[in-house]
Amino acid sequence: MLQETNNNSLIQLIYFSTATRDFSDHELDELLEVARIRNEKLGVTGMLIYAEGTFMQVLEGEYSDVHYVYSSILKDPRNKDNIELSEKVISERTFSDWNMHFTRISAREFSSVLSPSKGSKFYNRSLVENLASFI
Ligand SMILES: Cc1cc2nc3c(=O)[nH]c(=O)nc-3n(C[C@H](O)[C@H](O)[C@H](O)COP(=O)(O)O)c2cc1C
Repeated sequence: MLQETNNNSLIQLIYFSTATRDFSDHELDELLEVARIRNEKLGVTGMLIYAEGTFMQVLEGEYSDVHYVYSSILKDPRNKDNIELSEKVISERTFSDWNMHFTRISAREFSSVLSPSKGSKFYNRSLVENLASFI
């Protein structure tokens, strides 16, 4: 648990995971349909990226809601090897729209966001800022 956090604290959690199979557009649509309904009910916002077999997602909302969603993602057999990149208390959301944004990017773009090289447009910017630039 984050320090100085209670269940109502607004937090932002970013993770990536490995897809257990290759996802068609249709399968991703199905996943998003369920996710968006539940996220809207809970007030969870963010974005989901699919990069040739890797998911990366930003989840924003109250601590208990974000962790409720994330715990079902951790159990979801469609992904594995989840790695939490960051979890922090935020004062305002980067993604205020309830709709979970979705985009596909290339594996090359994915690695340049995760470990930007000097001189690249992603260098010296926050991860969430770089991710938001894809939508
Ligand atoms: C990569 C990935 C991201 C997901 N993102 C969300 C999400 O943002 N919100 C959500 O409710 N479910 C999301 N899901 C689906 C949940 O894991 C779960 O299947 C769904 O919410 C139904 O949960 P339940 O079976 O516990 O009722 C995601 C699944 C995967 C594989």
